Amino acid sequence: MAKNFKSANALELKNALELKNACVAKGKKTIWSNSTLTIKPNEITAIIGMNGSGKTTLLEVMLDIIPLNSGEIYILDQKPKKMRSQIGYVPQKYQLSASNVIRGYDALALGLVGNKLGISLSNKYIRNQIYQLADHLQINHLLNRRLSEMSGGQLQKIAVSQALINNPKILILDEPLANLDIQSTNEILTLIQHLKNHHISIFIVTHDLNPVIDLIDGAIYLLDGHAHYLPVKNLKNEKLLSYLYSTKIEVVHTKDGAFIRNKK
Ligand SMILES: Nc1ncnc2c1ncn2[C@@H]1O[C@H](COP(=O)(O)OP(=O)(O)OP(=O)(O)O)[C@@H](O)[C@H]1O
Ligand SMILES: [Mg+2]
Repeated sequence: MAKNFKSANALELKNALELKNACVAKGKKTIWSNSTLTIKPNEITAIIGMNGSGKTTLLEVMLDIIPLNSGEIYILDQKPKKMRSQIGYVPQKYQLSASNVIRGYDALALGLVGNKLGISLSNKYIRNQIYQLADHLQINHLLNRRLSEMSGGQLQKIAVSQALINNPKILILDEPLANLDIQSTNEILTLIQHLKNHHISIFIVTHDLNPVIDLIDGAIYLLDGHAHYLPVKNLKNEKLLSYLYSTKIEVVHTKDGAFIRNKK
């Protein structure tokens, strides 16, 4: 019994993401290099850094869209190629506008069946899966709406829901809060918060740390051509953030949490 218990534990996942001395280039340009870090499973991790520092590039490596030049990367302890089907991904520019008759329901159904031919999008299994997720994420009201008639926030909710429809173990969101007003931002954050403790590791690229600072466990930050990781309590560091954002930053602690702002 004890032996079995031990071997079951040994099968437990070690890390959601691991980089070992990783280096990636595009064309002849090294985007980041010498990067070593580990992220535990089921955490929420922000990915931050200046424009062009290589945040999207990191996602592309995780998704096995581009290879590392050297070093190693593991997603849930496996090579990225093996893990593709376990990752839900919302790209920086989500578009599903092949036709303006696509509704929320269709977007989720397409996420479920992909490009498998001959499957009716309204079959019972698909309907059940979609309504279950929609209930869970409280997006029922969007299922019959056309994507072309949705606001940015509503569209983003559909994008996140579509990425979740196959029960991924990893969710990757590239700038999910870009161009959203405060209400839509809060709705997306509530949706992400809702996923916490559901055995999913979440990575959120964001140019603004404030909306997510009380939600995340830590952040990967791209600085000086390297990817680094810090847990959130160590991230709230004025010197580091000022250097990262190339402007004087102040960390303000309130009874509701913390936020960062430009130092006057
Ligand atoms: N094909 C390419 N050849 C060379 N360099 C490239 C190529 N494509 C992108 N880059 C460069 O790679 C770097 C990293 O780009 P990436 O899109 O990962 O940055 P990012 O941190 O996501 O930026 P943003 O905040 O603007 O989304 C940028 O400096 C970009 O100019
Ligand atoms: Mg990007």
